[in-house]
Amino acid sequence: MDIETLRDRYLKFFELEGHAIIPSASLLPENDPTTLFTGSGMQPIIPFLLGAPHPAGKRLVDAQKCFRAEDMDEVGDNRHTTFFEMLGNWSFGDYFKREQLSWFFSFLTDNLGISPERLYVTVFAGDQTLNLPKDTDSVLIWKELFKSKGIIANDVHLGSLEEASRSGMQGGRIFYYDARKNWWSRSGAPHAMPSGEPGGPDSEMFYEFTAIKHDPRFGAECHPNCDCGRFLEIGNSVFMEYVKSADGSFKSLPQKNVDFGGGLERIGAALLNSPDIFAVDVLKRAVEKLERISKRSYKASTEEEKRPFRIIADHLRAATFMIAAGVEPSNKDRGYVVRRLVRRALFNARALQIEGTAWIKEVVDVYIQSYGRFYPEIDDGQEEVVKHLLLEAEKFLKTLEAGVRQFTQVATKGVLQAEDIFNLYQSYGFPEELSIELARKQGLTVDTTELATHRDKHRELSRNTSEKKFKGGLADTSDMSIKYHTATHLLNQALRQVLGNHVYQKGSNITPERLRFDFPNDTKLTSEQIVEVERIVNEKIAEALPVEKTTMPYAEAQKQGVVGVFGERYPEIVSVYRIGFLEKGFFSQEICGGPHVNNTSELGGNFKISKEEGISRGVRRIRAVLG
Ligand code: ALA
Repeated sequence: MDIETLRDRYLKFFELEGHAIIPSASLLPENDPTTLFTGSGMQPIIPFLLGAPHPAGKRLVDAQKCFRAEDMDEVGDNRHTTFFEMLGNWSFGDYFKREQLSWFFSFLTDNLGISPERLYVTVFAGDQTLNLPKDTDSVLIWKELFKSKGIIANDVHLGSLEEASRSGMQGGRIFYYDARKNWWSRSGAPHAMPSGEPGGPDSEMFYEFTAIKHDPRFGAECHPNCDCGRFLEIGNSVFMEYVKSADGSFKSLPQKNVDFGGGLERIGAALLNSPDIFAVDVLKRAVEKLERISKRSYKASTEEEKRPFRIIADHLRAATFMIAAGVEPSNKDRGYVVRRLVRRALFNARALQIEGTAWIKEVVDVYIQSYGRFYPEIDDGQEEVVKHLLLEAEKFLKTLEAGVRQFTQVATKGVLQAEDIFNLYQSYGFPEELSIELARKQGLTVDTTELATHRDKHRELSRNTSEKKFKGGLADTSDMSIKYHTATHLLNQALRQVLGNHVYQKGSNITPERLRFDFPNDTKLTSEQIVEVERIVNEKIAEALPVEKTTMPYAEAQKQGVVGVFGERYPEIVSVYRIGFLEKGFFSQEICGGPHVNNTSELGGNFKISKEEGISRGVRRIRAVLG
């Protein structure tokens, strides 16, 4: 069964159960400044899960384009892709657990014909500390459903992943895991959720590949969430019935919702009984093109040799969708992600000894044919896609050739110096990661500590030059004040996560001894909230996040949800300080004149809130120190 048929079967199945089929939202989220890309089916649906009425009704079904930049480095194994389609169905205060679990089970077994013997499910074990109950309802429903297929489904308590790999399957088919595994919100587990975020317990469906035997490198015993590859998660039913409130407790949402998401290609892989999702039709055809172009056999390749096939197939598909959505390769934000995708694809083409750029069109044509019917932007945008891909590829190949020549000259001493990597980048735009990958392939050592020092030095230099251009920000620029200035940005964001996005800087005063920060909030902070804010700030210090300055039009900063000082009037072009990594989503982005430290690790020590008080109605003041 091809992907088109599978997608269509799912949509029709749920349409018959009273769901309205809605089109996929854009890969580029609208009105959601928290992420650069749509990363799950539910993301565009959030307002309706929180209670806003949807014009198409209370039951929806779709196939949503998703992109996860954070998975880029994982691509190359048999199951990760950056771009994927998530099948989704939703109930907004309409049906709940019984209907959802029965329909999904029936879709897999009766409609697609997947053997129920190969299916295993997980459920939420509850969390006493958060007053969240164990999901025994789902267990009863699963038992009945398996029984209707003649299978006695035993439930087994596993709890944590550590416990699970000690205890193993124990003859079970239904497994209880803790909140780290069987709870879903965009921000992950309950404690990581900001206030106002919806979430709930979930029940995941796993397919078992019986040909794969457990690999003890992944844990003593196997279980559905084990990473050995025997089980593949093919769908997740989230019972989204809670919202986190400002005091950290969980309140029931006004309506009980269902948020289901399942990877289209993963279900395709289960149908084929193939643990390799690159054997599923669209990706398979792309891989076959690459086989023809490179005159190499994918099947006959080792796992390691399969990696470049998979990386090229995934990255070119993601870039195709991205460009069709209107992103052009560039040095900034989304554009930079496309650039990285194209560069990594080309770099991997070298490993298959594929030369030039003409082949790109052949691979992209596979995608245009497969997706053009369902996604109109792919059909309409095909010329643009090919044009931009080829332009970008040609640009990069020139760099690559010059860089590789230079690389061979410098890398003769068994060690690749940080300075060499830096010069390759400065003179040839030769990306650092590629230098490191080439070095690794040739068995050279890379001095990474030296590399980090080099990077810092470079930042310092560029900061000193840009400081002359931007005024404003901090009056006292002693070292300690600069540290407190960066700590203030971390505090602002931590408060937003713990209390909500109504927090902003109403006033700030920094001396070399302490910071002071005023912000709106109706109530006094609880001691738990204070502890949580401190914990987040200290975590960000420990994570040694880069702090970087960039400039952008004010309108763009607003679009990206960059935090500013309320009521301030900004010039057309503003400078923005970002803390963290683009790929993971910056932890903090604030319009600010600086200066700041280069890396949060420079704050050292321990961030502590020394005082929290009200200074006027609805305005709180925090004093904090770095110990
Ligand atoms: N939103 C849920 C997920 O992404 C279904 O797994």
